[in-house]
Amino acid sequence: MSHVKRQTVIVGNWKMNKTIAETVDFIASFIPLMKNSAAQILLAVPYTAIRSAAESALDTDIFIGAQNVSDAEEGPFTGEISASMLIEAGAQFVIIGHSERRRLFHEDNQLVNRKVLHSLKDDLYPIVCVGETLKEREAGKTHEILQQQIEESLKGLSKEQMEFLMIAYEPVWAIGTGKSATPEIAQEAMLYCRELIAKSWGQAVAEKIVILYGGSINVENAGVLLEQKDIDGLLVGGASLNVETFGQIVNNQKINIVRK
Ligand code: PGA
Repeated sequence: MSHVKRQTVIVGNWKMNKTIAETVDFIASFIPLMKNSAAQILLAVPYTAIRSAAESALDTDIFIGAQNVSDAEEGPFTGEISASMLIEAGAQFVIIGHSERRRLFHEDNQLVNRKVLHSLKDDLYPIVCVGETLKEREAGKTHEILQQQIEESLKGLSKEQMEFLMIAYEPVWAIGTGKSATPEIAQEAMLYCRELIAKSWGQAVAEKIVILYGGSINVENAGVLLEQKDIDGLLVGGASLNVETFGQIVNNQKINIVRK
């Protein structure tokens, strides 16, 4: 598949970390650190911090988003938050189907699909997560799982809608374990995801879509992963919590030399 230039995107996924005050401090310290980065930078913060984060990031190139969304618009769903509520709070994107949501909160591809459709309807930009477990990889089922996750989670989306989302390939065995996928493993799986997209939505969509790698990203491995031709960006968990570390990741030479 020929390589078109896609914008490098670096997303921080804070998970259940940082108070409002900590969020405001982080962004104030981060703004001078990210000024020279050629990457598009997104921060997925806790629900409670979205409004303050959006205010702190006003007039910067940082996009603020959420880590989850309901599949419903409104109603008797205690504890849920809809896409329009997130947008009102200042979110521009949302992570959907993260493996922690799939594993701990029993989200399946069908629910992920409804959440994606609901978010798109409200113009909330989805980042849809896919990835195999260690057991699935060892059983030789990586491709099968990725195919099922992509086909079912993105079912019914038009080509136009496919241009309004990103995919994050996050092998479950690499998340929070300190064991990142090798660049070769990540590249192979991510090329496969792109080929699946080409098969269902056509070559032009596949060449445009941004696919992120996530799983134990740190300052040392960020550059070599970004060198791979189908890795367009990174979804960073633990290493996005420290402002200096995240600052180093977004300023990685590979972004600034290769992508500028
Ligand atoms: P990690 O998390 O970087 O801490 O492994 C990544 C993620 O869960 O998105």
